[in-house]
Amino acid sequence: MYKILVLFAHPALQKSIAHKSLFNEIQNIEGITCHDLYDTYPDSFIDIKHEQTLLLNHDIIVLQFPLYWYSCPAILKEWQDLVLEHGFAYGEYGNKLVGKKIMLAISTGGSANSYSTTGYNEHDISQFLLPFSQMSKLCNLEYLTPFVVHDIHKRHDTTRIAQKTQEYRQLLLRLQQSDDAAMAVMESN
Ligand SMILES: Cc1cc2nc3c(=O)[nH]c(=O)nc-3n(C[C@H](O)[C@H](O)[C@H](O)COP(=O)(O)O)c2cc1C
Repeated sequence: MYKILVLFAHPALQKSIAHKSLFNEIQNIEGITCHDLYDTYPDSFIDIKHEQTLLLNHDIIVLQFPLYWYSCPAILKEWQDLVLEHGFAYGEYGNKLVGKKIMLAISTGGSANSYSTTGYNEHDISQFLLPFSQMSKLCNLEYLTPFVVHDIHKRHDTTRIAQKTQEYRQLLLRLQQSDDAAMAVMESN
């Protein structure tokens, strides 16, 4: 069974609609480590060795966050800058992540349609996530298709969020079992 590390970055969880539900749902599942970065590092001083040890001890890394300005919340960028060191994650001897898999689990305010050539965001969501797929390539991580929940705003649909929450839980459970179908899961609304 694969060991999954969920690196969670949401700076205002108390106001969250999507991630509160998604993150709560995957607590206490055997083999899944839920690691809330803002909760662990309220002052943003990231313990690099601890984070690298966590990476070494897991097979699948999930980066879970709301899309902020077409990127991730600040602490996750800080985590990338500090933890994915040369000689650890990339570079001549930086082979510590080889063979592991990575998946993004994100939410957006914009609808699925807005993330298209005809929508106001003008590009597909995968294009905005290019820095993450390229980071994965450089670190020899296998980049899985992201899990995306679109269209999250104040007037949200609670039934759809409940449905996406169950999809997320099932996806992680299938990933644990290295289910090929789970690896191929497509981004959805
Ligand atoms: C600072 C900030 C920046 C945001 N940037 C984007 C963005 O670039 N694209 C987008 O679709 N939504 C954007 N949003 C909306 C969030 O992605 C949306 O509120 C979030 O995914 C909902 O998840 P939550 O209910 O867990 O907070 C932004 C929201 C905030 C507060």
